[in-house]
Amino acid sequence: MDDPDGRFGEKVAARYDDDSSERFRPETVNRTASVLADLADGGRALEFAVGTGRIALPLAERGIEVHGIELSRAMLRRLHAKPGGDGIRTTVGDMATTRADGTFTLVYLVFNTINNLTTQDAQVACFENAAAHLEPGGHFVIEVGVPELRKLPPGQTMIPWHSSATEYCYDVLDTSTQSMIGHYITIDGDRSEHETIPFRYVWPSELDLMARLAGMRLVHRWSGWTREPFTHESTEHVSVWQKPA
Ligand SMILES: C[S@@+](CC[C@H](N)C(=O)[O-])C[C@H]1O[C@@H](n2cnc3c(N)ncnc32)[C@H](O)[C@@H]1O
Repeated sequence: MDDPDGRFGEKVAARYDDDSSERFRPETVNRTASVLADLADGGRALEFAVGTGRIALPLAERGIEVHGIELSRAMLRRLHAKPGGDGIRTTVGDMATTRADGTFTLVYLVFNTINNLTTQDAQVACFENAAAHLEPGGHFVIEVGVPELRKLPPGQTMIPWHSSATEYCYDVLDTSTQSMIGHYITIDGDRSEHETIPFRYVWPSELDLMARLAGMRLVHRWSGWTREPFTHESTEHVSVWQKPA
């Protein structure tokens, strides 16, 4: 039977915050929270797919009232168990369709999670849901990688991105559908485990069209949280769309 918490059940939630990669370092988290606090401009913020509160908690520490929508109850239990976690109001549900009470000056969706919506329709619905939560003049922010098709020579579908004694990770892309399956192989002694997660990769320009369909316009596209310009060499982007004032 499928886990009601999706891919982020108790086992993943328990080790989610042990990650030592760049994204989890205090400098990165603080920089991210500071940019989002500026955009919230003293109003209320809503995080789609809030997870264990990696960004929601430091944003709340900056005096912003933060709400979250999240599919996984296991991830939310971790969030609420953390110091300050009681101050984050959360709603269990799908970020493409679930409504949180009230309106917000900022809605944000980080860590490539727009790609967890595996159809174009669901991604479009997510933009419409963000716009429906925003006050006039409010901002919607997405942080997501640029699809890595330049790494794929003709005939190849696989992009390896991590290899160590205990873990191998690679993505398999289908350029006809923009589907991408993440493969994660972990090795523990003579046991190994192979997990897969389905994604839909999406282009910056396609996201701009989704924003337009939802009545929003691009106001910033940076190549990261230090707000450096987005260029043809950028591997990811932080994009900000605004609902008309
Ligand atoms: C990579 S984690 C990111 C969590 C948090 N935003 C962060 O930056 O640390 C992805 C999260 O998205 C949640 N998620 C995936 N699809 C979702 C959906 N359709 N609606 C709401 N949450 C979703 C997962 O349960 C998981 O907690």
